[in-house]
Order: sequence, then C-alpha cells, then structure tokens
Amino acid sequence: MPYLTKPSENTQKLLEEMTELLEAGLIPSRIFNDPEIHQLELERVFTSAWIFIAHESEIPGSGDYVLRYIGNDPYIVSRGADGKIHVLLNACRHRGAHVCRAEKGNSASFLCPYHGWNYKNTGDLIGIPAYNDGYKKLNRAEWGLLEAPHVDSIHGFIFASLDPDAPSLEEYLGGMKWYMDMIFGLHDGGWEVIGTPNRWIIEANWKTGAENFAGDNYHTLTTHKSLFDIGIYPVPPQANMSGYHIQAGNGHSLSLSIAPNMDDPGPKFWGLPKEVVEKFDKGKLSAEQYEIAMRSRNSMGNIFPNFSFIKVPITPDPKRIPPATFTRVWYWRPLGPDKIEEWTWILVPKNTSQEFKENSYRAGMTAFGPAGIFEQDDTTPWKGIVRSAGSVNFGQTGVHLNYQMGLEGMGVAKKVTDWPGPGNVYYPRYEERVALSLYRQWLHYMSSK
Ligand code: FES
Ligand SMILES: [Fe+2]
Repeated sequence: MPYLTKPSENTQKLLEEMTELLEAGLIPSRIFNDPEIHQLELERVFTSAWIFIAHESEIPGSGDYVLRYIGNDPYIVSRGADGKIHVLLNACRHRGAHVCRAEKGNSASFLCPYHGWNYKNTGDLIGIPAYNDGYKKLNRAEWGLLEAPHVDSIHGFIFASLDPDAPSLEEYLGGMKWYMDMIFGLHDGGWEVIGTPNRWIIEANWKTGAENFAGDNYHTLTTHKSLFDIGIYPVPPQANMSGYHIQAGNGHSLSLSIAPNMDDPGPKFWGLPKEVVEKFDKGKLSAEQYEIAMRSRNSMGNIFPNFSFIKVPITPDPKRIPPATFTRVWYWRPLGPDKIEEWTWILVPKNTSQEFKENSYRAGMTAFGPAGIFEQDDTTPWKGIVRSAGSVNFGQTGVHLNYQMGLEGMGVAKKVTDWPGPGNVYYPRYEERVALSLYRQWLHYMSSK
C-alpha cells in the first residue's frame, strides 16, 4: 500500500528507539499522544490490518446496513440481495459527499444528496441525473463506491481489510482462531447483538483500551478493588490472578481466569447457567478446547489492533441477585491522538431463554457502557495516561513507560510448556508480555516502508 505520510526524522528515531527497548519492557510515552503517530496509525495500521466492523446479526436481511468506521473513515456495511456483505466507503465518487446519513436502516440504494448520483447497496453506480446532457461517455462501472477488498467473518463478527495484499482473515487471526472458537463456538445458533452499540467519547488513546483487554489483569487489584470488596464478581482478586496469558500471534492475545480443577467452587463455563450449558454444541470444540472452556471463569482479549472482548459473570447486588454472564465487545475508534470514540456491543447466544438474555444484558450494562461501574473505574486512569504522554515534562525528558512485569527475573510468571492450545503462554497473570506482543505488531506496521 502506498503511504501518504513520510515519518519525520524525530518519529523515525522514536520508532527505532522503541524497537530497541521493547523487549526490555520499555515504551516511549510519546506514542500515546502524538498527532504524527496518530496520522501514521491511520495510514499504516488501520489500512493494513483486519478491522472489526459489525456483527452479522446487525444486518440480517437483504438491504440492511449500518454505518461504521475504519480508522476515521466512514463505511457503509451493507448486505446485498445476494446475501453478500459489502463494506463501502461512504463517499460519493463525484465530489465526495456522504451518500448515506442514517446510522442504520434498509435500502436497496444510496442516493447522494448533492447532485443525485445513485449507488446500489453493492456499491455499483446506477444513476446519474442528466446523464445524456452531461456525461454521455462516462463508464458507470468505473465509478462505483470504493469497496474494502477483503471482508470475512468469524462467529458472525465481520472484519474488513483495506489492504489488497492482506492475508486471509483466518491466517491473520493465527492461533487466535482456536481461542475464538473456544469462546464463541459452543452455541449452535450463533450469536446476536442486543440493541445498538453504545458510543461515547473518552479522552484517551485507543491503544490503552486495546492494551487493557490484551491482558492487564494487574489493574484489577487496585482499580476494581472496591468492586471485588462488595462481591460483584464471585472470585477473590488474588485467585482471579491465577490464570493464563496467551500471546496468540500477530499481536492478538487472550487472558483467562481459570479454576484449578473441577472441584473448585467458583464459576465453570464462565458462570453460564445450566440451561445454557445443557444446550452446548459440544461437537464444535476439540476435547482440549472443551476442557479449557469448562474451567474458564472469565476470558478477555484483544484482536490486533482494536477489537476487544470479555466474557465474565457479575452481579450488581451480591446479596440479592445471582451473578449473570455477559459477553461484551469493543471497537476503539481512534478519533485523535488523545480521543477514542468507544463503541461497545452486548451479545447473547441466540438459542437461549429470554430470561437469560435479559439477565445477561443487565449484567453487561452494569459492568460496562458509559455508566458501567467497571468502565468508569477504567477510563479515569486512561485519561491521565494520555495527558501525561502529552505533557511538556514527559516530552522533554523522553520518559519511557514500564512494561516489565513478569519479565525474566521479575516475578512469578513462567512459560507454560504443556499448554494444549496455540501461542506463547504464561502462568499466572502477573506479566505484561501480552501487551508487548501488541506493541511489537504495532511497530511492525508502523515501521513498514
Ligand atoms: S457529490 Fe455526490 S453527486 Fe455530486
Ligand atoms: Fe478494568
């Protein structure tokens, strides 16, 4: 892909310095609040990687569409009459006006409000007003909406890549596919999104959101201590640290809290109720995947660059309400070096009772979302991170941030050699290699020529 911006000498040096220091667990703070880094990310990371863009259940019927973003560019995700999903840049080929202005809907075509060029929901240009008076020789076939060259999905999660030379989604996911199958593959009817995504803006850098879900369990001991104290999650904080950090390849990672054995009184199968567990389609998982799923208390992870997810049981009122398991996903839209438009969805397995779906939704909204108690705990420190990264003093001193937890000689985390799944695996979760793997992949794209 041709890049528009050539990094300045300063930024080039910063990336080189980061390459040298990353394996020692040091990251220059500037990458978390710098306009040039932000612009390069849009041009190099978001146009090359596979980016989550919608869930299939949001556009189930022919003609359904939603408006979404890759980096900062708006895309229409539409389902054509043939059932195929198209990811189209929302920009008229005449002058660039947005051709679609509703957030979601159903339409066979998109009519540009400026001069009236009309596009089918597959992106084909089908109408030009006064064609014979003005455009007789124009070949409509060459002037359709720009379309993402690659679109594919896994468990209904639709991803798109703008890079014509991108590997397949499966290849891109690498070992992460095994874990996605384990987490999302047990329900024969698949998944559905409840409602429309929550959206709001926070003054933080998108990488902090991704990093948090890549495996920052360390912060739960402090940031969420008060929530553990009131018993919102049915496992004590120290026991919750007993689990695995998995670098699944290509910057993707998973963090698993897991029961030591089946006699442990804590949640199994992420705390899912019996009625859901009984309906599992066991044949979809290998024995190894099933065994890990069985002992899982909670899972969180990040698919590089900015798609995060969590599956966890919580209760808003431990004395009165039993914990309910929710599954929530995020898209960290980079709105600026110091601004994220946070998008987040709650999903439920389709073939479950209405009661479970409602309990799950309630638990998910209690925990995350603009008024979610975990969410508010998390985003306050994130604002400090981006401000410090842009501060004069941090800038002048060229401060490095510390990602050394669990590196050789630093703690108790050990590499696991008998893990049945793919990836580099560490136990317990007192370690930050998962974050380093995210930044290694980020550097790979940012340093590409
Ligand atoms: S800008 Fe769309 S028709 Fe002119
Ligand atoms: Fe958190």
